[in-house]
Amino acid sequence: MEKYDFSRDFCGTDIEVPILGGRTSRYINFDNAASTPCLKPVWEALERFRDYYSSVHRGTGYKSLVSTEQYDMAHERALEFVGADPDYFTAIFVKNTSEAINKLARRVRLKKSDIVLVSGLEHHSNDLPWRNQCKVLFIEVDSSGHIIIDDYAAKLAKYKDKIKMVSISGASNVTGILPPIHQMAAMAHRYKIPITVDAAQLIPHRQLRMGEPQGKESIDFTVFSAHKMYAPFGIGVLIGPKRVFMEGAPDYTGGGTVNYVTRHEVQWTHLPDKEEAGSPNVFGAVALRAAIDYFHKVGYEKIASHERALTKHALERLAKIPHLEIYGPRDWDDSEDRLGVVAVNVKDIYHAKVAAILSYEHAIGVRNGCFCAHPYLLKLLKITKEESEKFHKQINRSYRAEIPGMVRLSFGLYNSIDEIDICADALENIHNHKGKYIINSRTGIYTVEGFEFPRFNV
Ligand code: ALA
Repeated sequence: MEKYDFSRDFCGTDIEVPILGGRTSRYINFDNAASTPCLKPVWEALERFRDYYSSVHRGTGYKSLVSTEQYDMAHERALEFVGADPDYFTAIFVKNTSEAINKLARRVRLKKSDIVLVSGLEHHSNDLPWRNQCKVLFIEVDSSGHIIIDDYAAKLAKYKDKIKMVSISGASNVTGILPPIHQMAAMAHRYKIPITVDAAQLIPHRQLRMGEPQGKESIDFTVFSAHKMYAPFGIGVLIGPKRVFMEGAPDYTGGGTVNYVTRHEVQWTHLPDKEEAGSPNVFGAVALRAAIDYFHKVGYEKIASHERALTKHALERLAKIPHLEIYGPRDWDDSEDRLGVVAVNVKDIYHAKVAAILSYEHAIGVRNGCFCAHPYLLKLLKITKEESEKFHKQINRSYRAEIPGMVRLSFGLYNSIDEIDICADALENIHNHKGKYIINSRTGIYTVEGFEFPRFNV
């Protein structure tokens, strides 16, 4: 049977972009862990909806009724998507995962002396919002980037009375590692501690089931962003037990959050409206729902199988390049599932320069740097305390020409083996680059002497 070409379902997969020497080349996007291109069915749904857009939850006109129905339905679909019981859970729409965790951290009402236990592999968005509210403790990770479960068990046992939440990434945005979230949930629940799963990286690639409410291995809260699931229109989702958000005032107040207001009293409205102050992002909600429909249509089995094949091939090719350092699990291991996120360094070329060469000479889009996961990068790169202090001082002086980092290739459903081969060839021959690359030491970004990308006008 002919293999299905997923790329035909995505916008912009055949775009030629300028490269050095006045030529063009087809763009290869390996920056899917940061954000993803739009699915054609998502764009088509937005086009169909466009002429019916109107106010939500307020108007009596037909278009308002259509918009309201679409918006409400997207909430139901979001709950269903992660197997969350709609009688017990609510889905609250926000801008993105960072906003979702900030909201959650404020709404679970922590005291400064409380502890939230996160892991050493977290994205900043599952670390800093908690730090604003209470004390954050980190579960250690080993040199290959995995969470050390014995350390988790020890910290749970030691701080059980103070820990009010365990919050863990469903997948690492640096190494693609998939922490054992259900095992970790069961361990937290033994001490009656709830668990949040930051599913921003996980959900575009592997299915998440929250499980029955308050089940032994169930997930209590989850958050994710539509822009990482091929629906980049500014919407994210926070799912958690209704009772948590029913209690007290919402963190943002304003339009749509109340049943009744006098000069002296406020009666809050039902969920999720109570937590979604102001006019909502209806286009985002329509886009999210259309993306969910696509995931259902294709099925996670096919998604995972295609992406596993990409990742296995990438690791096999990259492992053969002698000047390449691969971080996290470097070999494909059939017994351990992982995502298609591979972070590397070329031994003698600075990460920002490698990323620039891939872009300027090969039309390959990657991300370099620390991927909003500085503590994890420092650990994987074995940066000492002294080195870390030196980098801190350099940044204070706006000097960014030596800041440690990596080059990250992150695959999406529409990527192909051929694209991986083009990138592997480029990395293999990276020393033969053509341009003269110059770094701006204030920004840490490389450009090529005597060349500028032509401006793009929308
Ligand atoms: N979380 C996104 C990334 O890893 C932005 O690039």
